[in-house]
Amino acid sequence: MKPLDSSHASPPAASERAIISVSGLNKIYGSGFQALRNVDLEISRGEIFALLGPNGAGKTTLISIICGIVNPSMGIVLADGHDIVRDYRGARSKIGLVPQELSTDAFESVWDTVTFSRGLFGKAPNPAYIEKILKDLSLWEKKDNRIMTLSGGMKRRVMIAKALSHEPTILFLDEPTAGVDVELRRDMWEMVRSLRDNGVTIILTTHYIEEAEEMADRIGVINKGEIVLVEDKTVLMRKLGRKQLTLQLQHPLNAVPAALSGYDLTLSEDGLQLIYDFDAQSEETGIAGLLRLLSEQGIDFKDLHTSQSSLEDIFVDLVRGRA
Ligand SMILES: Nc1ncnc2c1ncn2[C@@H]1O[C@H](COP(=O)(O)OP(=O)(O)OP(=O)(O)O)[C@@H](O)[C@H]1O
Ligand SMILES: [Mg+2]
Repeated sequence: MKPLDSSHASPPAASERAIISVSGLNKIYGSGFQALRNVDLEISRGEIFALLGPNGAGKTTLISIICGIVNPSMGIVLADGHDIVRDYRGARSKIGLVPQELSTDAFESVWDTVTFSRGLFGKAPNPAYIEKILKDLSLWEKKDNRIMTLSGGMKRRVMIAKALSHEPTILFLDEPTAGVDVELRRDMWEMVRSLRDNGVTIILTTHYIEEAEEMADRIGVINKGEIVLVEDKTVLMRKLGRKQLTLQLQHPLNAVPAALSGYDLTLSEDGLQLIYDFDAQSEETGIAGLLRLLSEQGIDFKDLHTSQSSLEDIFVDLVRGRA
């Protein structure tokens, strides 16, 4: 038997695929509060990654560290190959950030503020590019307006235009659709997708689970400064595809009858509920066969209902489980 040789032909290191790589990251604020605990996270090039977590979980802290606004206490972060501490400028030039708290100069015009933002990164002026992003964000008509004369949703779009002004390859959106109406939210999702199609990697935080479901390629959950789950959305949704059929029986059973052993059934403590776990996505759920068997066995039920766990349930379980 030949020994396995692991020194050759090893698969490409995760860091080659990852556009952002966070390892062993800890943050203890000056107050002594630990906001991040041993965070390891890799964001793949070209994906949309949604970071979910309750208030105070550490989402903004994590983003702020990656963007060089907050200093890490311990750990290493690479953004497109640049160490965010040792090569801050290199890292920052790759990153666009739409912060959670909107702050812009109210008296500047849309055009000037976005143009100025680009200049801050030492990029040569490119009016055609600025025009394109303002048009993409439906802000072109407002380009000469002072920021203070815009609606809240428009101000948020100006923040996105600013974040894109220096042509970053990574875009952070911290709560991009908080307080944004349904229609504008749809527009934003469209825009984020088209950015991704143009090769931009997107990391967004959100409190709207349906936003993560709709948008993300992968989903991460953070709670009390710890990453508690990172999963492909499709994998997560497949797990979510499991449903339960609950039958309220007329008469209690002592045990699941042997004739029904082919089904994934559980009996409630009081023997009055028979619960069937099945895969809602599969062609054949088995419900028809189960009901036929029940009637053959003379097991009567007075009511039935189905339920499905949602991403929200999983999220709440995760967060509560660690509380
Ligand atoms: N400058 C600071 N000094 C001390 N503690 C801070 C500081 N900034 C944030 N924190 C604390 O760190 C924790 C994480 O805050 P953070 O803003 O990262 O949470 P979040 O996940 O973004 O929450 P939200 O969903 O409310 O935006 C909180 O307990 C917060 O009070
Ligand atoms: Mg936050």
